[in-house]
Order: sequence, then C-alpha cells, then structure tokens
Amino acid sequence: LYRKVTPTNLPTFLLVGPSGSGKTAFTTLTERNTVTQTHTSTAPLTVEALLPSPHVPASSHYRSAGDPAYERSRRFLLLDTPGHGKLRHFATAQLANPAHVKGIIFVVDAAAIAEEAGLNEAASYLHDVLLSLQKRYTESKTSKGPKEIPVLVAANKMDLFTALPASLVKVQLEKAISEVRNSRAKALRDAGAALSGGEDEVDEEKEWLGEGGEGAFEFEQMREIGTNVGVLGGNVVSGKEGGDVNAWWAWVGEQL
Ligand code: GTP
Ligand code: MG
Repeated sequence: LYRKVTPTNLPTFLLVGPSGSGKTAFTTLTERNTVTQTHTSTAPLTVEALLPSPHVPASSHYRSAGDPAYERSRRFLLLDTPGHGKLRHFATAQLANPAHVKGIIFVVDAAAIAEEAGLNEAASYLHDVLLSLQKRYTESKTSKGPKEIPVLVAANKMDLFTALPASLVKVQLEKAISEVRNSRAKALRDAGAALSGGEDEVDEEKEWLGEGGEGAFEFEQMREIGTNVGVLGGNVVSGKEGGDVNAWWAWVGEQL
C-alpha cells in the first residue's frame, strides 16, 4: 500500500477561521491554481505548494531563478482545518504545539464581518488563536521567547459588494475582540466568586489578551509576544475573472 508522504520539513502555514470563510477554496487554488467547488470540511487537509511567481521568498531575494536553493525556498505546506465550532479541535491541536508552524492565516469572510453575528464569531475565534500564541510566549522557558509566529488576517470575498474593506475589517475585529476579552474576564471573575477564593481560582492575568488596563485591544499589542498581525484583503473566487490573492502570496513570500 502506497501513501503520499508529506515532507514535514517544509515551512507550514496553518489555515484557520470560521466555517465558510474560504479556507478550502484557497487551499485548492494554492494546490491546483484553480478553484473547484468546496464543501464544508470535516477533517484537516495538508497540501504542498509553490509560491507562485512573481512572488519571491524573502530568503531568496539575492538568488536567481533556476538556482536549486531558490526553487527549494518556494516550497511550503498549507494545513487547512475545519472552521465549524465543533471541529476546531483540529486547529486547537496544531496551535497547542506550533513548533513547525511558520505562520497562521486566519481567513474571514469580509461580508460576514459586516453583520454582528459573523463579526462576533470571527472575533471570538481569533481571540482564542491569539491567546494561545500569547500563552505559548509567556509560558516559554527560554529567555529569548519562542520563535515568532506571524498572523495574517486574510479578509476574503472582496468581490462581494457587502464586503468591508480590509482597514474596516481590522477596526471591527479589534473592537469585537475587546468585547470578547471583557466578557471572558467577567465570566472568570464570576466563576472565581462562586468558588469563594479557593486555590482553584484561575489566573485572570494569563487569560487576558494583550495589554492590561482600560484601553481597547489592538493587534499592535501582539508585537509584545512576537506576533505581527497583518490584515490584507483578497478574493479567492469571483465570477469569471478568477480571484486575486496576490497580497496574501506576498505575505507568505515574506515569511519564506
Ligand atoms: P469550512 O470548511 O466549513 O471551515 O469552510 P471553508 O472556510 O473551508 O470555506 P470554503 O472554502 O468551503 O468556502 C465556502 C464558500 O465560500 C464556497 O461556496 C466558496 O466558493 C465561497 N468563496 C470562497 N472564496 C470566495 C470569494 O473570494 N468570493 C466569493 N464570493 N465566494 C467565495
Ligand atoms: Mg473547508
């Protein structure tokens, strides 16, 4: 019995985000250069891909095309995970041990973000992703901290007229994450009060994302824990013309 062996030493980008945001569509586009009909994912999927030209891996800026080292540096893996709320353990498991993860691509539907329900769902998932990166950093034993893991918020479906532009996706997510943060802290305090100060109390500070204090949450605060968060618009599919995800490729190239 033969099995396709996936090379594990290639840089891996983890695809996460709410269900229906376009993760699998982006995965198929990456692997086959064309988009096919997708169905909601129930299992993770890893594909191997090459950074398409004219994008150049940052590590190869001074190499010429055809140089074997250049060609090697264009290779990467994309790990697509199911976004459904009940299937996020696949993504959570990766986030718990992201040693091999080069970067995280959090795909959102920029039109869904325009509605409160879609915004809240994306914000609470993104909050949890960032909090797991923060915990990894604060729990690290080395003085340097663990390897940096950048996050790209890929604001997808820009072809839809109801889609928010990337700049607004950023602002709206930051606001909504501030609210998630406050409600999570309140829930912890309430649970703590119910326990009437036993040793079981959860460390509130560890569960608080970003800077403490009264201020609002901003992605910029993640730099402190070695995570640069960028928000870039794109669309994987759109009518006949096909999509445009060049900004995302450029971002991937910067990490390679
Ligand atoms: P889960 O597997 O449930 O987590 O969802 P997913 O993020 O993998 O979503 P998927 O890639 O299956 O895409 C969901 C739907 O959105 C599909 O019908 C896609 O064709 C559609 N879609 C993806 N990208 C775009 C886009 O850029 N524009 C538009 N209009 N539709 C898109
Ligand atoms: Mg999918």
